[in-house]
Amino acid sequence: MRVDFNVPLDEHGQVSDATRITAALPTINYLIEQKAKIVLASHLGRPEGEKNKKYSLEPIAKVLSDMLKQPVLFLSDCIGEEVVNAVHQLDGGMVALLENVRFYGEETDNDENFSKELAKLADAYVNDAFGTAHRAHASTAGIAKFLSPRVAGFLVERELEFLGEKTTHPKRPFTVILGGAKVSDKISVIDALLDKADHMIIGGAMAYTFLLAQGHKIGNSLVEPDKINTALTAIQKAKEKNVQLVLPVDSVVADHIDFGSRTVGAIQIAGLDIPDNMSGIDIGPKSVELFSEIIQNSKTILLNGPMGIFEIKESAKGTFAIAEAIAQNREAISIIGGGDSVKAINKSGHGKDVTFISTGGGASLEFLEGKILPGIAVLDR
Ligand code: 3PG
Repeated sequence: MRVDFNVPLDEHGQVSDATRITAALPTINYLIEQKAKIVLASHLGRPEGEKNKKYSLEPIAKVLSDMLKQPVLFLSDCIGEEVVNAVHQLDGGMVALLENVRFYGEETDNDENFSKELAKLADAYVNDAFGTAHRAHASTAGIAKFLSPRVAGFLVERELEFLGEKTTHPKRPFTVILGGAKVSDKISVIDALLDKADHMIIGGAMAYTFLLAQGHKIGNSLVEPDKINTALTAIQKAKEKNVQLVLPVDSVVADHIDFGSRTVGAIQIAGLDIPDNMSGIDIGPKSVELFSEIIQNSKTILLNGPMGIFEIKESAKGTFAIAEAIAQNREAISIIGGGDSVKAINKSGHGKDVTFISTGGGASLEFLEGKILPGIAVLDR
């Protein structure tokens, strides 16, 4: 079973956010009930083909064992005779965790022989590593050729249901809220979701490229002048598709931002035009009101990206207010589309109030863009 245990570790090497481990439990528990011998494979970080203790999965075996309330056998390699022997000695219902598959460069090269070596450890293949499904690697895609059946786990199934089915045939009105720093990261997702949404709200620094495209002054705000045409194309497409594209009507602005010390200089609220020496750092109160009203009247809501620099207190309000508006709409299906928005929703304290939180970062984005994910494409069911 391929899992995505690529979780953040603190300075002592301990797991600081176990969301991805918890998310894999339904499938692991199901396999335990079926008395399968369970061999878990994952990557952690990007060790680039080198064995490096810093990226060892060993601490994760302990966390998983506590969660499952049974021992998890940690194997200090992921291929080879010793690993094969250890796996053969497992009883039904026992769980083993292999060492980081990326300790071999062959993993990311999707090397066929390495896939075969991994496949020696099992009869069947389960992919529950949604977060890594956009990578065509040996343990996510290559291995499937050598094992049958090859199926999705319950986590992957839910990701496909919420990011796929529920946004392709949404209960309407369907509101997409996109944020984050750059338009260039989201061009394809904007384009794909304009085919599906009724409202598209754009916040975060990427909104300034849109505002500039509409002739507004944006002061020193983060902007991508070479993406003005992309913004204009999106605005035009929204008109043609009858999608209401909504931009901030005001911003919290600061004369200075220091990311290192997480501080900002003097702040004020600006309207649609931002003074020359100021930078937009968050959506303003009128935008919060405008966005919240649309959110309240929606039946499906998809959030991807924060509304401002939510890591800094002075510019976190907009992101948290939008999280709250989403959480308050109990009638709607609310989907948090991975990466920074997951951090933001959890930090806002509303993680438990939304319908679905994706475990994918890049994978969620690529899936929402309509791309085929190699780790999913190889599965039978
Ligand atoms: C992620 O955290 O997005 C996945 O685990 C994939 O990791 P990668 O970007 O190093 O391939």
